[in-house]
Amino acid sequence: MAKITIDGVEHEFEEGKNLFEACAEANGEKLPHFCYHPGLSIAGVCRMCQVEIEGVPKLVIACNAAVRDGMVVNTKTPRVRSTVQNILNFHLLHHPVDCPVCDQAGECSLQDFYMDHGLYDAEIDIDDKIDKGKVKPIGDLVMLDAERCVLCARCTRFTSEITKTHELGIFNRGNHSEIDVAPGKTLDNNYSLNTVDICPVGALTSRDFRFRKRVWWLDVTDSVCPGCATGCNMTIDHNEGTAYRFKPRENPEVNDYWMCDHGRLLYKRIVTDARLEHPTVGVGERREQSWWERAYRRVLELAESRTLVFAGSPHATLEELYALGRLAEAVDGRWLGARLSGTETGEGDDILFSADRTPNAEGIRRLGAGEFTVEQLREAATQENVLVVLENDLAGLAAEDSVLDGFAAVVTIATDGTATSDRAEVVLPTLKYAEKLGTFVNKDGRAQALNAAFPGPAEARDTIRIVRDLGEVFGHTFAWADTAGVRGEIASTVEGFGAISGGIGPQGVALDAGSVQPTPSGGEEAQA
Ligand code: SF4
Ligand code: SF4
Ligand code: FES
Repeated sequence: MAKITIDGVEHEFEEGKNLFEACAEANGEKLPHFCYHPGLSIAGVCRMCQVEIEGVPKLVIACNAAVRDGMVVNTKTPRVRSTVQNILNFHLLHHPVDCPVCDQAGECSLQDFYMDHGLYDAEIDIDDKIDKGKVKPIGDLVMLDAERCVLCARCTRFTSEITKTHELGIFNRGNHSEIDVAPGKTLDNNYSLNTVDICPVGALTSRDFRFRKRVWWLDVTDSVCPGCATGCNMTIDHNEGTAYRFKPRENPEVNDYWMCDHGRLLYKRIVTDARLEHPTVGVGERREQSWWERAYRRVLELAESRTLVFAGSPHATLEELYALGRLAEAVDGRWLGARLSGTETGEGDDILFSADRTPNAEGIRRLGAGEFTVEQLREAATQENVLVVLENDLAGLAAEDSVLDGFAAVVTIATDGTATSDRAEVVLPTLKYAEKLGTFVNKDGRAQALNAAFPGPAEARDTIRIVRDLGEVFGHTFAWADTAGVRGEIASTVEGFGAISGGIGPQGVALDAGSVQPTPSGGEEAQA
C-alpha cells in the first residue's frame, strides 16, 4: 500500500492506483473531467482533471497519473482552479451555449462544471463561433449535435474498444475538429445508446428519449434488465407510473457500465394496450370481467375431479416459481415445468447479449423447475387436466394455436393478453417486473433483485398473493405472506440458495456453484 496526502489528508491506496480515482475516493467527489471514463482507455484530452503534485513543476492530469508512496497532491489550490477555469473556457469558446433548448440539461457535465469553474464572461461573439451543425441523426437511436461536442473521444473509444465497430471518428483539425460517423457508416450497433450515456454533454442524445421528460422529474429505481440471461443491472427512470428509459447501472460482475439497446428499449413493453387489468372468467363470448374471489372459486370448481397441471416461466421470478411449486404440491397437482424447451432463444454476442432471451432460466435450473416439450404439453392436454400457467404464452410459443385445446380448461396468471390468455377460462392479472419485488438468477448464477418502481393496474395482484390466495381457497395456508417471506423460505430450504438469506444487495449475490437441483422431466411431481 502507498501512503499519499490529498488536500492535506493522508490516505492509503494500492501503489499504482489511478490518481483520478484516488482523489475521488479521498474527497468524495470527482475532479472536473470530460474524457476520463473508468470503462475506457485513458485519453487525457480534455485536460480538466488538473492537480498539483509536490516536487513536479507543472500541473498534472490526474487521470493519467498513478498513486506513488509519499505523493503529496493538491486538487484545490488557486493555481489548479485558475487553470481548470481557463481550460473550461477554452472548451466553451465555440460551444453554442444553447442550454435552454438542450435535452442534456440536468445531466450535463459542462453545465455542472461551469457552475463551479465558469468565468461567466463570453470571450467570443456568438456570430464568430464555428458552426459544426445541429440535430443530425447518425443512427436509428442516436442524434448528433456536433457543435455541443467537447471532443472528449469517449464515444469514439467506446466504438473502437467495446463494440469494435468503429463507426465514429474525429474529423478535421484544430477549431474545426468535429465528431461524426465514418463515411458510409451509421451508428446502429446493438450498444449505440451507451454513447449517449457516456457523452458528457448534449452532443449525443437518444432519439427515443429526447424531449420526452426533463430528467429532474424522473425518479430512479434500481432493477435488472429482463431482456436476456445476462441480467444487466439497470435503473428504471420513471415519472408518475410511466417508465421513460432504462439506463445501465454499474456492476463489474455483470455488465460493467453498459447495456444493449435491445434491453434498453424493453421499457416500452411495460405499458401496453394488451395489459390485463381485471380478473375474468369464461372464454370467448362467455368471457366477463369478474372479481377476485369469484375467479378463485372458479379455479376450485374447475379442479373438482380434475388434476391441476402447473407450468411456470423463465420470465417469472424465483419466488413466484417456488411459490407456484408449493401450490402444485398443496393441491396434489402435477408440475409440467417452467419452460417450453427450445423457445425464446436467438443470436447472442460476445459483449453482453445472451442467446437465451429470458431473465431467469438459471433460476429455473437451480430450483430444479425443469423444461418441457410441446409433445409433453400435448400429452398433458386431456379433459382430466386443467392447465395453470404463470406468465407464459404457451400457445404463442408453441406456434400451434390448438395445443391447449385438449385441456378441460386453462387458468392463467398473466400480465398481457396473449394467445394463451385468449384460451383461458380464468385470467388472473398480475404485476410486471417493474411493479414488483423478486429475484432473477442470471446465467452465471448471480441472484439479482427486482424492485417496484411504480404500482401496477389497481386490480392486478402480485403473483405471490395470488398463489397464497389460491392456497387458501384449496384449504392450505402457506407460511409466507409476501416475496420476502418466500425468499426466506427458499434460502433456508433449497440447497445452494443460502447466500440470499441475508438479502440481496444492489449488486446481487453469487449463488453457490453447486446449487443445481435435479431437473424433473415434464409431467413429474412439482419440484419448483
Ligand atoms: S460527441 Fe460527446 S462523447 Fe463524443 S467526443 Fe463529443 S462530447 Fe465526447
Ligand atoms: S444484454 Fe441482455 S440483460 Fe443486458 S441489456 Fe441487453 S437484453 Fe438486457
Ligand atoms: S479527465 Fe483527465 S484529461 Fe480529461
